[in-house]
Parts: sequence; structure tokens; C-alpha cells
Amino acid sequence: MGFLTYADIENAVQAILKHTSIQPRIGMILGSGLGLLAESVASANKIATRDIPGWPASTVEGHAGLLVCGELEGQPVLVLQGRAHYYEGYSMAKIGLPVRVMQRLGIEILIVTNAAGAVDPDFVPGDLMLITDHINLIGMAGLTPLLGPNLDEFGPRFPDMSQVYDRDLMALAQQVAKETEIPLREGVYICLGGPAFETPADLRFLRGIGVDAVGMSTVAEATVARHGGMRVLGISGISNKANLDGETVTTHEEVLEAGKVIAPRLSVLIRGVLRQL
Ligand code: HPA
Repeated sequence: MGFLTYADIENAVQAILKHTSIQPRIGMILGSGLGLLAESVASANKIATRDIPGWPASTVEGHAGLLVCGELEGQPVLVLQGRAHYYEGYSMAKIGLPVRVMQRLGIEILIVTNAAGAVDPDFVPGDLMLITDHINLIGMAGLTPLLGPNLDEFGPRFPDMSQVYDRDLMALAQQVAKETEIPLREGVYICLGGPAFETPADLRFLRGIGVDAVGMSTVAEATVARHGGMRVLGISGISNKANLDGETVTTHEEVLEAGKVIAPRLSVLIRGVLRQL
């Protein structure tokens, strides 16, 4: 089906509650090659996402497919180590299921991360970018996780998107970046359908419409989270350079390789944020 029902969400929630008694406050989604942080979760209960009914299982290398529930920096967290993407064949609604489940479990803050390609020519692989806003290009064309009858218990039919990425959380991330001397870029993220990477003409188009980083995730999750009134912090790890001139080739191996540099920095940044929440 192209949209979620209350029962779909409830079935997944009940399966998770059988594995853990922790009441998480903060949810995290870790993108391609960025799963490292999940390994430091203390008193962790790990649930294979394939064991959760209806869960969109990731089929991509670099995505472990685990839901890790435990404590990080003293905060009760639920960490999704490896996400599913639209290009894997799931409906947009399905892509939003993990966030609906988090909301139903009482999570108030979502930290969402991804690997992204630079569109801003100043960005270099290894950079972290605070997502200040996003362009929901495929949403504009109707591909939205909010399709179908509105789930009134989760949020309003016409949710505001004037501040998807929470200003206080952004300020906190900037403060932590300064203290820990981690360079933190800022910019606008766009989600495309993928899985093919962009042509140079695509990238020049994206640059023209105000994009700084491009990926294949995050926007649907952030949209569902805001629909549900959660506060969102978004961070991209820049894994490859802007190929605006067609002179560089982009590969998934490169994305995973860059993850090895990005993941430790991202961990320091997110741990710093968690300490102050
Ligand atoms: N384009 C789209 N998605 C990506 C890229 C890219 O260059 N790098 C990592 N994810």
C-alpha cells in the first residue's frame, strides 16, 4: 500500500517493545558508512530490523539494518544503524515508518545523518555540513511520505515546514563544533531519487537552485518528524566532490571510504550535542 495505517505503526512498535524496556528520548538515523556511533551505545539492545514487521530493510552495503536501543552520553537513545531508501523499492510512506515508530515510542528529538555529494564547490570530502534547510524536490512532484489519509493522532494534514531543522539544536551543534575544533559547514540539502549519481548538468541545475549538498535520503524522514512535532537536527557527511564539470567519477566505494573519516568526527559532534541536551 502507498500509505501507512495506525496498525502498521502499532505492529512495529509492539515488536520493538518486546525487546527493550528503555524509553528513548532521542532518535538517530545513521547514513551510509556512518554506523560507528551505534557501536558505542551502552546497555544496548540490538534488534535486527528484518525482525520488525513491515520495517523497510536496507539492502545496501554500509547499512547494518539494526535498531540499537540503549544509552549514549547518559541519554536514552534509539539508533537506526542503516536506513532504507526510496530507490530500494519502498514507498515513501514506508521510508517514513521508522520515524512514525520513534514518535509513537515517545521520541522528541531526531538526529538524522547522511552521506552526501558536494554541490558547493568549496566543500571537500570529509567535511561535515549542518543542514540548515532542505529542498523537497521529489516531494514537490508528489512523492511524499504524508500521502494518503492524514494520521490525525500523529500530526496535522498541512504541517508547517518553515523550520524543519531546529534552530536551537543547530546553535548547539555549532557550539560543540567550535569547542571540539571540528569544522562544520552549513547548507541546504536536497534529496533526489537515485540510485544513479547526478550528471554534471544535474549538478549545475542543483547549484542554480541553491543546493549545497545532494543525497538520496533524509528529507522524507525529516518531513515525517516535523509532521509529528519532533525537533530535528540534520548533519551531512560530504563524501565526494562536486562533479560540476564532468571530470570526476563518483562511486559508492568512495562514499564508504569517506565514511571512515566522517564517522569519527560525526561521533564527536553528536556526543557533544547529546551531553548538552
Ligand atoms: N549524490 C547523491 N547521493 C550521494 C552522493 C552524491 O554525489 N554522495 C553520497 N550520496
